[in-house]
Amino acid sequence: MRKIIIAIDGPAGSGKSTTARLVAESLGYTYLDTGAMYRAITLAMLNLGIDPSDENGAVRAARECRLSLENANGNSRVILNEVDVTDSIRSEEVTKYVSLVSSYKGVREIMVEKQREIGAHKGCVVDGRDIGTVVFPDADLKIYMVADIMERARRRQEELSIRGEDVSTAQVVDELNERDTKDSTRVASPLKKAPDAIEIDTTNMSIEEQVAKVLSFADEIMVTNGMVN
Ligand code: CDP
Repeated sequence: MRKIIIAIDGPAGSGKSTTARLVAESLGYTYLDTGAMYRAITLAMLNLGIDPSDENGAVRAARECRLSLENANGNSRVILNEVDVTDSIRSEEVTKYVSLVSSYKGVREIMVEKQREIGAHKGCVVDGRDIGTVVFPDADLKIYMVADIMERARRRQEELSIRGEDVSTAQVVDELNERDTKDSTRVASPLKKAPDAIEIDTTNMSIEEQVAKVLSFADEIMVTNGMVN
């Protein structure tokens, strides 16, 4: 069976999620969006009125909430306590607090355990910040995606505008820089490139090119490992 684990890490807006989703679809794999899991815990806290700076409250919310990720027809939905929160986890409010909530060691331990269960049977494309370094250090293929800050801001602004949220470029740049700094300087599983990851700069690439590139690396690995169709 041609089943491998593909880990895609990188800063916000570098193109990880779109690429990971399409690569998974093309290979018939499961797409695991770990950022969506941290976003869902953040939303759970906000819904319960727990202050995002309350670390124990965050761990309690992570332990007690019922979280599932569903993949159907290339569409991935996030279900929190039986409610579809796929869209609401992308709000500015959740985005503002998610890096704080995901910096808590106890929250990460609970999430990483779930992520490893989902990836246990391989055939998975996983995107996040610590996938190639912590969650699946033995992943068959590790990609580290980067892009110029102005291009990342442009993409994020476009996403927000589709949601009806108009935010200035300066504000988006600040938000991305702040989140990247928090994500890469935290003690627990910071964002960093695994030594054996392949870096892809998507600044001037189309989505199709990004997907094709990852698929060609995946194919090369499967051929080298003698995995045939
Ligand atoms: O899509 P975007 O790049 O905005 O971010 P995301 O992948 O939805 O992740 C949201 C936040 O969750 C990140 O900024 C990190 O703080 C956190 N995260 C993490 O700590 N570890 C992961 N494996 C994935 C996300």
